[in-house]
Amino acid sequence: MNMLEIIENKRDGKALSQAEIRYFVEQYTAGVIPDYQASALLMAIYFQGMDRAETVQLTMAMAESGDMLDLSDITDYAIDKHSSGGVGDKTTLIVLPLVASFGVPIAKMSGRGLGFGGGTLDKLESISGYDVNLSDADFRRIARETGIVLAGQSQSLAPADGALYVLRDVTGTVASLPLIASSIMSKKLAAGTSGIVLDVKTGCGAYMKTLDEARALATAMVRIGVDAGRNMVALLSDMNQPLGVAVGNALEVAEAVRTLQGEGPRHIHDHCVEVAAQMLRLAGRGARWADLAVTHGEVDRALRSGKAFEFFRRMIAAHGGDLRQIDDLSLLPKARLRHDVPARESGHVAAVHADKVGWASLALGAGRKTKEDAIDHAVGIEAHVKVGDAIATGDPVMTIHANDDGRLAAAMAWLEEAVEISAEPVAPLPLFHGVIDGAGN
Ligand code: URA
Repeated sequence: MNMLEIIENKRDGKALSQAEIRYFVEQYTAGVIPDYQASALLMAIYFQGMDRAETVQLTMAMAESGDMLDLSDITDYAIDKHSSGGVGDKTTLIVLPLVASFGVPIAKMSGRGLGFGGGTLDKLESISGYDVNLSDADFRRIARETGIVLAGQSQSLAPADGALYVLRDVTGTVASLPLIASSIMSKKLAAGTSGIVLDVKTGCGAYMKTLDEARALATAMVRIGVDAGRNMVALLSDMNQPLGVAVGNALEVAEAVRTLQGEGPRHIHDHCVEVAAQMLRLAGRGARWADLAVTHGEVDRALRSGKAFEFFRRMIAAHGGDLRQIDDLSLLPKARLRHDVPARESGHVAAVHADKVGWASLALGAGRKTKEDAIDHAVGIEAHVKVGDAIATGDPVMTIHANDDGRLAAAMAWLEEAVEISAEPVAPLPLFHGVIDGAGN
């Protein structure tokens, strides 16, 4: 096999063979293929794209570059979810205990955030003592004993993706559909899951700004999963405004707890009910939870009855987290300064720009610009209004939680532009823009 020939084939628009793709992934991960040749191939893929078979083969080669988790000692059907990320997205914290409360074992590895807001692990680390770095033995033990485990991703999972992602980041080749889809799906396939619900966001606060882009990414990922023998569904969800009210790590944990107690904001409650019902539908494999409308009712009851919250408590305790902070939310990290941003005029909310709220949270220190940045768990924003709400001059539209005057001023500059008000009534935004099932429809 010759790397120069592989680059030239892709440059000239030819489909790569399985052998060529495997050679590239294995030899790059082994350090044999130099960065300059790998970069040239990535750029050729960026411009020429990949067909369905190539994308699946790239995904499988990256998944198999490290350990392939086998969860069969925990469950005969592992269910997982993946969110393409967004502002105020605490869905994982709510949906996993919710699904586990139906007796469906959850053994999930999650990531840290880069850019707006923290990732799931950063949010969990707002709780003192919560240990995300589990050994394989502890990961399995907690899953078996409590029915739910939520830890950091093992370094040995899809190492080829880790290496290629770093290179993509510095060669302008991140924004390629087959490369994004294979990157995300390689980690999911290596994590031992049988069914995956994808929550693909679209809008100004999402990676995919337009619905067409989100649909294309969701379709590509669903096809990869189906071709790899997994059950798949993708939800196309709105990320033009923040998800729920809270944006920032400890604030989002508090909102997740309230939602798990059936007292969350309607927006995040309804979003999580849909994601959980879709996960249960896959896990039920036609024998249970096949009727989504009925499952919505069951899921809603699991939130309101405290059953889902009980599983969240179990998970926190099993990871060494301080349950007192969950039972008394005032004990979670708290910022020193609080500042309300008032509405400048009366009318109807026409936009709550999720991207601007995201940049404000980053300015406060709730997210990280580089992997090395430290996160301030206490800071963040509460976005009190949603598109379509009626408001009066002076009503607080946002509350900023800050630990530093300079950062507070920087966040205010972003947030002053974040809310648009119209004199005319405005229709609320939908939570979801569509569903793509395993048939790719
Ligand atoms: N997230 C990933 O894991 N990979 C990408 O390429 C983009 C987002």
